[in-house]
Amino acid sequence: MSEGDLYAGREQTLVKHYILEHYLERFAHIVGSAWDAITYVDCFSGPWNARSERLEDSSFAVALAQLRAARTNLTDLKRARGRPLLELRCYFLEKDAAAFTKLREFAMGIGDVEIGTRNAALEESIHEIVAFVSERQSDAFPFIFVDPTGWTGFGLDVIQPLLRLRPGEVLVNFMTGHILRFAEHPDPTIQQSFDRLFGSTEYRARIVGLAGLDREDELVRCYCDAIRQAGGYDYVCTAIVLHPEYDRTHFHLIYATRSQKGVEVFKQVEKKAMGVMEKARSDAQKRRREAQSGQLDLLSATQMHDPRHYDSLRERHLAVAKSKTEELLQASRTLAFDDAWVAALSHPLVWESDLKSWIGEWKKDGRIEIAGMKPNERFPSRGRGHQLVRKGQ
Ligand SMILES: C[S@@+](CC[C@H](N)C(=O)[O-])C[C@H]1O[C@@H](n2cnc3c(N)ncnc32)[C@H](O)[C@@H]1O
Repeated sequence: MSEGDLYAGREQTLVKHYILEHYLERFAHIVGSAWDAITYVDCFSGPWNARSERLEDSSFAVALAQLRAARTNLTDLKRARGRPLLELRCYFLEKDAAAFTKLREFAMGIGDVEIGTRNAALEESIHEIVAFVSERQSDAFPFIFVDPTGWTGFGLDVIQPLLRLRPGEVLVNFMTGHILRFAEHPDPTIQQSFDRLFGSTEYRARIVGLAGLDREDELVRCYCDAIRQAGGYDYVCTAIVLHPEYDRTHFHLIYATRSQKGVEVFKQVEKKAMGVMEKARSDAQKRRREAQSGQLDLLSATQMHDPRHYDSLRERHLAVAKSKTEELLQASRTLAFDDAWVAALSHPLVWESDLKSWIGEWKKDGRIEIAGMKPNERFPSRGRGHQLVRKGQ
């Protein structure tokens, strides 16, 4: 089956797997060159709606392929350094018995990776996961993937021990579509489930009076803040995954790390994923139009695609990111390029090239000058000690 067939009708999963796959591709290479082992944990493994007989369209198979590729690519480097081959360790958790049967069968067919599996809910498995990770505390870097079907089962109190793993990184699927519909629901049981998700009731006050995208963005920010605080992370980034057929958000993938390199890689993958998403959405929308009209479109999916929703989201986040960066510049006469980079790139749909173009604009307008650049350096960049210095008042 082609990739298009595997993901037709669930293009949001294509985007999720694209981000997971391409982030892990770089992560495993970078982390694997410095560490002896990687521990990958999938807390909601599935398989879930997978179509491939070999489960290639499941998150665990996608991840495993990238981890193995990194191990192969790093063989020479490890040898040259007199180190053993990169060791791969996976822990796959799944609550549903039928899905778990398939997962275990898949895992039993793998002989070159240490794999732990468990048929249980995440709430009852934190101790086991932490124990699995801790077996190689000193020489393995853990990556935790949390990909639930709704907003329950991964309350902040439940996942906090996983968020706190050091070293460690986490990718969480925040089911924005469902969450927007049910947050502030009058039913006290539903309310409590949201309080557990966010780890406090503070989010309720933060969204009072907000509607539409303002409410959506604030809820996502509340969750990012909660994750950052609970895990002691330095950086949290989000990738927006849109509904394939309609102009609304399906979910956000929330990535938390303590490494700027991690942010750099995640943002590069997010940027590419947005192109993949818009292409997949154009195909999904063409399919829907043709099914509704009973006629084939005369133009291609890409030619027919209306990019206004995506473009308006990008404009929205660019405007917020630019004004936040300007506020930082206004607050102190000198702003390290690295701090501007972190502030700007913490917003979805904002890329390093955007920050550089604002800096060019501010410089041209005579608002700033760049300090700390060597004669052979033409543009400010991260990690070089470059400073944006405000001119005038
Ligand atoms: C969205 S699916 C995961 C999809 C998979 N990560 C992928 O991308 O291919 C969520 C899975 O979590 C399982 N699940 C639901 N609640 C759970 C819980 N509390 N603990 C562990 N697994 C759970 C479901 O049975 C389902 O297979």
